[in-house]
Order: sequence, then C-alpha cells, then structure tokens
Amino acid sequence: MVGLPARGKTHMAKRLCQYLRFFHGANTRVFNVGEYRRKFAGAGQTSDYFASDNKAVRMKFAQAALKDMIDFLFQEDSMSFLEQRGVDSGRVAIFDATNSTRERRRWIVDQLSALPLKLLFIESICTDEAVVEKNIRIAKISNCDYDGIMTPERAFEDFMQRVRNYEKEYQPMGVDPEEDDLSFIKLIDCGRRVESNRVHGYLLGRIAQFLSNMHATTCSIYLSRHGQSEYNALQKVGGDSVLTQMGENYALKLADFADQVVSRDPKTGEPRPTRLWTSSLQRTILTARHIQHEKIKTSVNSVWVQMAPRVLRNLDEIYAGVCDGMTYEEIRAAYPAEFELRRQNKLSYRYPRGESYLDVIARLDPLIQELESYREDVLIVGHQGVLRLIYAYFAGFDRVEAATLSIPLNTVIKLTPRTHDCIEERFCLYDPAETTEPLDPPSY
Ligand code: F6P
Repeated sequence: MVGLPARGKTHMAKRLCQYLRFFHGANTRVFNVGEYRRKFAGAGQTSDYFASDNKAVRMKFAQAALKDMIDFLFQEDSMSFLEQRGVDSGRVAIFDATNSTRERRRWIVDQLSALPLKLLFIESICTDEAVVEKNIRIAKISNCDYDGIMTPERAFEDFMQRVRNYEKEYQPMGVDPEEDDLSFIKLIDCGRRVESNRVHGYLLGRIAQFLSNMHATTCSIYLSRHGQSEYNALQKVGGDSVLTQMGENYALKLADFADQVVSRDPKTGEPRPTRLWTSSLQRTILTARHIQHEKIKTSVNSVWVQMAPRVLRNLDEIYAGVCDGMTYEEIRAAYPAEFELRRQNKLSYRYPRGESYLDVIARLDPLIQELESYREDVLIVGHQGVLRLIYAYFAGFDRVEAATLSIPLNTVIKLTPRTHDCIEERFCLYDPAETTEPLDPPSY
C-alpha cells in the first residue's frame, strides 16, 4: 500500500484480503506496520514520533514486518491443509504502511526482487479534505494511539500534525520515470479516477477491478431466503417450485419490512434509495413480488425507483444435478457413495452433472464486485446455499465454514461491513405458532 495517513489504506487492505481469501482461495494476510510499532514501541506515540528525523527508528518496524511477510509468503502448505481449508496454493501478502517516499519503495523492491513473486503497489489518494477529516474522526482518534490518552480534539490535532509530517516528504507514484518499471494502481478519491501501470495477468486484473469498485461509504446488505417453497415443505432439494401458504405469508411480511425498515432512513424515517436483487427462480421472485416500487426524488432532476427488481441467474441456488428434486434420504439411498463424499468435503464436492459450492463461489464473484460498488443498501432475496456464501464473505468466515452456516427461513439478516468487523442483526419475521412442522429439511 502507498499513501498518506488516513487515506483508507487499511480499509482497502482488509477488504481486499477477505476478497482474495474467499473468492480466489488465496492464503492472504495483511502486515500492518502500525501494529508492529504499537507492539514494539508501545501505543500512544505523538506526532513528533513521525517527524522525518525519527525515520530510522520507524524503519525498524517496517523491516520486522517485511521479514515476517517474506516468511509467510514462502511457507509451504501440505495438500491436506489446502484441501481442508478450501484454499489454493497461492499466497498473497499485503504490506500495509505509508510507503510514501521513492526511497522506501525502492527498499521494498530491493528486498523482494530476488524472490519469485509479483509486486503490485496500490496507492490511495484523497483530494477531498472533508473525507480525510472524517476518516481521522471515525478511524484514527478512537484507536489505541489516542483512546483514553488525550481528548478527541487534541487527538485530531495531533493526527493532523502527523499527516503534515508525512506530507513534507510524500512522493506520489507515477511522477518520477524511475518508477515506470513498477506495477502500480493509483486510486484517486475512492476509485473516481484510476490509473494503472504495468498491471497484467488475471489476479492483478481482479485486484484492480475490486479496488476500483470499493468505496468508503458504509452500506448494509439485507439477506433473506425466499418464503417456504413447496419443495421445502416436501423436504426436497432444488427444483423451481412455488410458495406454500406459509411462504406467501412471509412474502407479505417481507414487503412490509422492506418498506418500513430497509427503505427508510433510521434517523429521519424518510425514504432513502434502496435496491432489490432476486434469483431467476420462481420462489425468490414470488417472495419479492409485494415489495413496493415507489418513486422518490434524490435531487432536483433525478428520480429513483425504490427496490427496482433485478433478476440475476448467478444468484440461483446451487444446482444438485442428478439429485435435483430428491430428498436427502432419497439421495443417501440412491447414491450412498456420493452422499458420503459430500459429507466429507461439502465445499469442493460437485453433484454429478451439478455444481459444488466452489462453482457457486466462482459465479458469485462478479455479483460481489457489483455489490461492492453500490452506495445504497441492498435487499437480496435468495437461497440457502448462495446466501451462505454471501453471508460468509461479508461476515468474515472462510470458505470451509461457509458451506454449513445457518441461514434460516423467515429471517432477514442485516450485515453492515466495516474495516475491522461486520455488524450483524437478525430479524425473525415469523410467528412460531404458525406451525410445529420443520420448515425445510435439515442440512447435511
Ligand atoms: O433445502 C433448501 C435448499 O435451498 C436446496 O434447494 C439446496 O439444495 C440446499 O438448500 C442447499 O443446502 P445444502 O448445501 O446444505 O444441501
């Protein structure tokens, strides 16, 4: 990473880390030099510590982090570890520091040039002072360098002085021809403008795309399974059946929830722009069909259609191939070996002529890129298997855990991802008195 303090580098590093782990199976880790400093020199250093005459002291933390990073990159994983954790053999390390001078970047290049790896610099530039101020107030003055040590106003002033110390020496990338040989992406104002230099190959391309979609606005994603379907009630997997009466009741409750909660600003109660996605299967479209599509004014000349439905085939449920339409008991009886293989490794198991969870992860990748680019909250009406994956990605679970997570019927899960965590709320829109029967088959 490259950039002045408070330019969202850590946020980008963390989100990119989760994306590469989940969607590309890369064993990815962030090495944050600030954490090394806090560990070795103690938290609570004031702005003088970041003056240029103290560079040599700070360099020690960068060296320690880089050394650990190289050790991490070249550790070998056993085949069984890779299989168990659902990762490929690739490793990615993100060196999260300011790296804001050419000298520092040359040092990184020199340390790594003899090693078999690809090096990409990601520079974050923010030209809007108000955004920088907001970043400092939200993310910096509450961290352990300041929390409980000084008042928020003094902490803010001190951090601004720290930024000024770095500004004195800052050399953006892409200016000096000496750096023309490096691979780098410059993200200006959260991807408003993106410049790339020598960015070639599949993974670097995906990284560039992911980062240019990302932004710093906090949004929530609401996940709901469709209402109970006829196949759920019959304990069958897959298919394209319609809703039961109970499923229809849920569809009505969900419409109310979408109107009263999802589409309204929690502070003012006023409508705010929101989006709606369903799969292409009947049961999700029917579940979303009572949701209102009111038109609201977002500025003088523009009108937003609330929850305009987008039907996405990539959101369809995991396809069970020859087992589609069977109950789990029927699958166990007809294909005992297959049943056992799936029990052993649910993530990579592929149904005969059907899909595996890994296949579904691959088709969700473009949708996640799209979701990352939205600045409005989104309600996704989907299916158990697919929602497990979307939930796991945002909530920070790894791929192996994802395949068995609980995504109950009749429940809306609200996720609000942040830099270091994800806030989760669950809304049960179901009166247990409605039935004593199980709503759908237990998962295997
Ligand atoms: O049972 C509902 C369902 O959505 C099926 O259509 C689908 O095959 C299944 O859940 C996915 O869950 P699992 O991977 O646990 O079988």
